[in-house]
Amino acid sequence: MATKGLENFQKVKSEEERMERTVNSCPFRTRFHIMPPVGWINDPNGLCQFKGVYHAYFQYSPLNVNGGGGYWGHCVSTDLIRWEYKDPVLTTDIPEDRSGVYSGSALVEDGRMYVFYTGNVKMPGDYDYIDAGRVSTQILAESEDGQHMSEKVKLLGMEDYPEEITQHVRDPKVWKENGRYYMILGARERAWDEEGKRRDRGTALVYVSEDRKKWKFSRKIDSEETFGYMWECPDLFCLEGEKVLSFCPQGLKSEEEKFQNIYQSGYSLLSRDADLESTFREWDMGFDFYAPQSFEADDGRRILIGWAGMPDTADTHRNLSVKNGWQHCLTIPCELEYREGRIFRTPVRELFALEWEAVPEEKERYCWAEKAVKLEVSVRRRTRIRIGTEKNEMTITAEGNKTEISFLDRKGNPAVCGGGRGRRVCRTAGDVENLLILIDSSIVELFVNGGEAVFTTRIYLEREEREIRLPECEKYRLEMI
Ligand code: FRU
Repeated sequence: MATKGLENFQKVKSEEERMERTVNSCPFRTRFHIMPPVGWINDPNGLCQFKGVYHAYFQYSPLNVNGGGGYWGHCVSTDLIRWEYKDPVLTTDIPEDRSGVYSGSALVEDGRMYVFYTGNVKMPGDYDYIDAGRVSTQILAESEDGQHMSEKVKLLGMEDYPEEITQHVRDPKVWKENGRYYMILGARERAWDEEGKRRDRGTALVYVSEDRKKWKFSRKIDSEETFGYMWECPDLFCLEGEKVLSFCPQGLKSEEEKFQNIYQSGYSLLSRDADLESTFREWDMGFDFYAPQSFEADDGRRILIGWAGMPDTADTHRNLSVKNGWQHCLTIPCELEYREGRIFRTPVRELFALEWEAVPEEKERYCWAEKAVKLEVSVRRRTRIRIGTEKNEMTITAEGNKTEISFLDRKGNPAVCGGGRGRRVCRTAGDVENLLILIDSSIVELFVNGGEAVFTTRIYLEREEREIRLPECEKYRLEMI
């Protein structure tokens, strides 16, 4: 490894050590969610099961709590719930990745791990970083243990992308199908409207290879009409015979009960004889969800992990863990199931196998302080659940086919524990019949109707404010661990 790499890794070690106490004493640290040991985390990368062990890598900025990148962090698990943090595995140590080791994926084959990622370069100067000033290179590194990476090999550079594509090309997801390798990349294509105004369009590029090293452009996956100006983190997989494209379109216009966050992430069904725009569904309706990635476990399950965070939210909401030197986490890993034309997402079964303790139905309020909470609710009529105290709380309401989460009080003022978040709404195909609510310190994940809709959101309650009240809630089962 280049000396630069060694120096970078040493910096992380000393920062993690220096901040260990502060970070770990933060009341918002979670038990079962992947977090940055220090600093900032974004996208999950390289998810796989390798030699029996689950590996999760992630975009990691240990030296800057507000992001900026620089590393692939690493953690391992045997049950997808309890994670052990390792040293980062990739850093910016070659010219092609000097501004960032961006997102990518892992392919496991014959006892070896192949890691594909984007090396990002932003040249100093007065550039728009769309058509000029940026270099995006797709790079391969190999590993025998998931921790030590080989020399990096450049696979695709600017000269290999179609001419109409801007300099934004990234996030390779690689898989093998019928003896060949495929790579899908998120991209931004140059385009203009009728009046000649620049109106770029998001797209995905597919490359194919016989040997993982030489890649040939195969095709674009496009929407008919422009569907956002850039697609990030594409992922293509089969679920019960359905071809699914998961991607993160940037630039969709917000609608009343749709596309409520700054950027979206969702999936389209490609086997349908329909434009992918019309089958597009959002993965999550909460405030904090972006850049998910899936992988196939050895037992055949398709598992998805998202970033419980969003880019560019400085003006809308804040994460109150920042004062303790860290920010963001990943979602609980979920199993995907295709049914009735859509994908249902539920926490991996390993979560339910933990030794949860049933809490006897008692009074109006339950305190959970240091515990993780699992609340299953049958909904027959209007249901309301409050998390927090009367002065500082999040409310979940379900009625008819509508579910809502809100940090707003009766006067419309946002609660402190929401860090500036307001409310989010979702409609299910039929009426809401059941809710599963998981609370792990500072993250709430709400699964509606067995995962037909999911809301992921962070919540910042002090330990003594951690209450659940069920003012309108008929039948429920509350467990803690
Ligand atoms: C998505 C993303 C990716 C990129 C990475 C950089 O959140 O912007 O497209 O590879 O983050 O950290």
